[in-house]
Amino acid sequence: MNSKYECMELNDGHFIPILGFGTYAPNEVPKSQATEATKLAIDAGFRHIDAAYMYRNEEEVGLAIRSKIADGTVKREDIFYTSKLPSTCLKPEMVRPCLEESLKKLQLDYVDLYIIHFPVPMKPGENFAPLEENGKYALDEVDLCDTWEALEKCKDAGLTKSIGVSNFNRRQLEKILNKPGLKYKPVCNQVECHPYLNQSKLLDFCKSKGIVLVAYGVLGTQRYKPWVDEKSPFLLDDPVLGAMAKKYNRTAALISIRYLLQRGIVVLAKSFNENRIKENMQVFEFQLTSEDMKTLDGLNRNFRYVTINQIADHPNYPFSDEY
Ligand SMILES: NC(=O)c1ccc[n+]([C@@H]2O[C@H](COP(=O)([O-])OP(=O)(O)OC[C@H]3O[C@@H](n4cnc5c(N)ncnc54)[C@H](OP(=O)(O)O)[C@@H]3O)[C@@H](O)[C@H]2O)c1
Repeated sequence: MNSKYECMELNDGHFIPILGFGTYAPNEVPKSQATEATKLAIDAGFRHIDAAYMYRNEEEVGLAIRSKIADGTVKREDIFYTSKLPSTCLKPEMVRPCLEESLKKLQLDYVDLYIIHFPVPMKPGENFAPLEENGKYALDEVDLCDTWEALEKCKDAGLTKSIGVSNFNRRQLEKILNKPGLKYKPVCNQVECHPYLNQSKLLDFCKSKGIVLVAYGVLGTQRYKPWVDEKSPFLLDDPVLGAMAKKYNRTAALISIRYLLQRGIVVLAKSFNENRIKENMQVFEFQLTSEDMKTLDGLNRNFRYVTINQIADHPNYPFSDEY
């Protein structure tokens, strides 16, 4: 695993670069920073870029990709771009228009991967987390198998090369996999994953079904207040990660990314800082020994940074103890 362009084959024959660039930033951060950071990431060697309709940054990220194509740094086919279908657009008739809207913002002809962002359907509208008058989330009822069929049609129409899911637990993955008349399996499941939540059971399940696990929050997330308890431990301050960083003359961030890559996981890492963007590419310059991998396995505590407690009792809520 020495090449910064290393890819993993997906179950539909396409290839995903194993290190991806995360582009999410909270609303307070000017959207233009997503353009600058994405350009820096492509210059640094990132070829996989992760964004979403819900991040409201696709115009800016699309601009960065197109400008790096225009200046000759990359060709469109060198870039693997992921977009996500928001929870407010899970009704089957909304899927294609939503993807088309993303493509319009991006000014691209296709995305490489289109995934269901989150399995709990919300009422359609401009607000991605709509509330009822009583302050509760405005939930909707949609059968995810119907949503999946609409994604299959988007793949057939050439609007996306591959289709997958995000934040699905095993039960929800099985629901899609067991769907009568399934045409395409999800190629991936993008979930929170890091040394404190190493997802070993979900990873084994995904591997057994040919589904790639894509990890987010690998550096301990951005600790976004609505979803992350401020008392949560700081992953990158972990003493075991720190000691290992010292041993390899790297950083805790690189040890965390490397740990997941060596377990066959595709990793997303977000940074809007030029030095840290470049630093994260150094993950291809070293390897962890199997003994150190075991030590890192020992850090798991099934600790999830991201929770959405207001919908914890919804039958599709994926962040429960169930994996
Ligand atoms: N599917 C989903 O529901 C979902 C949910 C969450 C995230 N995601 C995706 O996954 C991506 C990554 O997850 P994330 O945004 O939660 O954050 P993350 O990758 O865990 O990064 C957290 C923070 O680490 C800092 N960082 C980056 N490189 C570092 C380094 N080398 N040393 C020290 N700190 C470093 C970054 O701050 P600086 O910018 O200041 O460097 C960043 O804000 C997102 O951007 C998004 O694309 C998907």
